[in-house]
Amino acid sequence: MPHHCNAVDAAAKGIKPPPPPQHQQQLLMVRRVAASGKLLSAASSHLLFRATLLATLSLVFLFTLHYPSLLSHSFHLSSSPSSISSNTLPASRSSSHRILLGSSPSWSDVLRSATPTRRRDGGAGISVLVTGAAGFVGAHCSLALRARGDGVVGLDNFNAYYSPSLKRARASLLASRGVAVIDGDINDGALLSRLLDAAPFTHVLHLAAQAGVRHALRDPQAYVASNVAGLVSVLEAAARRPHQPAVVWASSSSVYGLNDKSPFSEDHRTDRPASLYAATKKAGEAIAHAYNHIYGLSITGLRFFTVYGPWGRPDMAYFAFARSIVAGEPITLFRGARRDFTYIDDVVRGCLGALDTAGESTGGGVRGGKKRGVAPLRIYNLGNTSPVDVARMVGILEKLLGRKANKRVVTMPSNGDVPFTHANVSRAARDFGYRPTTSLDAGLRHFVEWFVDYYKIDLAKIAKPTKRKSMAMSTASS
Ligand SMILES: NC(=O)c1ccc[n+]([C@@H]2O[C@H](COP(=O)([O-])OP(=O)(O)OC[C@H]3O[C@@H](n4cnc5c(N)ncnc54)[C@H](O)[C@@H]3O)[C@@H](O)[C@H]2O)c1
Ligand SMILES: *[C@@H]1O[C@H](CO)[C@@H](O)[C@H](O)[C@H]1NC(C)=O
Repeated sequence: MPHHCNAVDAAAKGIKPPPPPQHQQQLLMVRRVAASGKLLSAASSHLLFRATLLATLSLVFLFTLHYPSLLSHSFHLSSSPSSISSNTLPASRSSSHRILLGSSPSWSDVLRSATPTRRRDGGAGISVLVTGAAGFVGAHCSLALRARGDGVVGLDNFNAYYSPSLKRARASLLASRGVAVIDGDINDGALLSRLLDAAPFTHVLHLAAQAGVRHALRDPQAYVASNVAGLVSVLEAAARRPHQPAVVWASSSSVYGLNDKSPFSEDHRTDRPASLYAATKKAGEAIAHAYNHIYGLSITGLRFFTVYGPWGRPDMAYFAFARSIVAGEPITLFRGARRDFTYIDDVVRGCLGALDTAGESTGGGVRGGKKRGVAPLRIYNLGNTSPVDVARMVGILEKLLGRKANKRVVTMPSNGDVPFTHANVSRAARDFGYRPTTSLDAGLRHFVEWFVDYYKIDLAKIAKPTKRKSMAMSTASS
């Protein structure tokens, strides 16, 4: 997606996400304790010692409240991370750091989270292991599954590709709705096996990945580690179970690469990727074919088209542009770029539809003398079917934020982005009634509502008349 990295970084510095509420509370209480300590010591020097003791004890108490995992033996599923993930993921953390963050759910939390709470059509709900659950799409899918009564357990390594505190905030939201998110890596095969053995998962929704097309120029190995090795790790774990779960995973519209037939249909060429990201997703589709063929795994690949919305990804253009507009920083657009922007709620409906129609894994090879049916291998576009000029997307943001963007329009470099995307979704419509319903105007309005609330932005304050500037800009961008 077209945006200028420096502008994004600058914008990122301009706006700091608010600390999570529990931290605020804790800080407030710590301040109160400190204040009461001061008062006491001023009243009498004899009380100084007691006050200090009181303050210390209070702090210890607050600390143990906040980080119970330091004292109690909360369940730790994690075995040591594989060499791949610890070598190449920039954000993988030492185990001591992991304990300090203290968000590992207990084993009973995990089991409760995995258990469906509803009975659909007299039968049991499904139980889904969601990888990348602290991510944008994963968080939304987890909430939607839980809301309709399915069992959901999340897995995420909370890496620092973008703000881990945003990922933690999503995970807190999930926890408040009864979804446990385990802090772990998909390359940790032992962890995956233990999870799949311990809880009765019927499905794996595999969304964990290294996303973003231009970051691959800086850290190519992260893409190999999560999108290739990590996918193999997930499929291995699923294939080896006596009761194999059905797997639904995120591929990407980027596999169409330099395809110039429009709209993009699932049977179009996907052998000309324009980025390493696209190449790893294409590799994933080939790997999925092999695991379906050998092990009889039910596998569904979903090619998402530029998903956006509340709780979105700060590295994506619409989000980075919103930050830059608010911070008064310049943004860089690629001339003529068009995207089939797809609202998150539409994508979530598509993911749930794919899960509900996945069909069972059959196990591989020959069982008891005869082959047991053929497991499904499916691929679907999940897009919006109406591409929009990126410049028009910026126009909508300007209107919603009440402030003009400082735009630079440049020719698209050939370092990952493709000129346009446009989904044909008739296959998903046929098989699970997928029908995107959200316009970019409506979807961006929902995004901006969340954005100003989350970052505590006062739109009235940032709105200012920039007539002279905007005239200069329209000349520059024409
Ligand atoms: N958002 C889009 O527009 C879009 C478009 C096409 C495809 N996709 C794909 O959809 C999926 C979800 O995307 P998203 O936008 O929610 O991205 P995201 O980055 O917000 O979510 C991915 C999550 O996976 C986690 N993760 C990454 N590597 C991991 C690892 N090795 N082990 C455990 N967790 C790991 C990250 O911490 C992150 O929270 C990804 O597979 C992505 O490639 C997204
Ligand atoms: C969309 O894809 C379907 C197959 O799923 C195909 O029959 C149809 O012709 C495609 N539509 C367009 C406009 O290309």
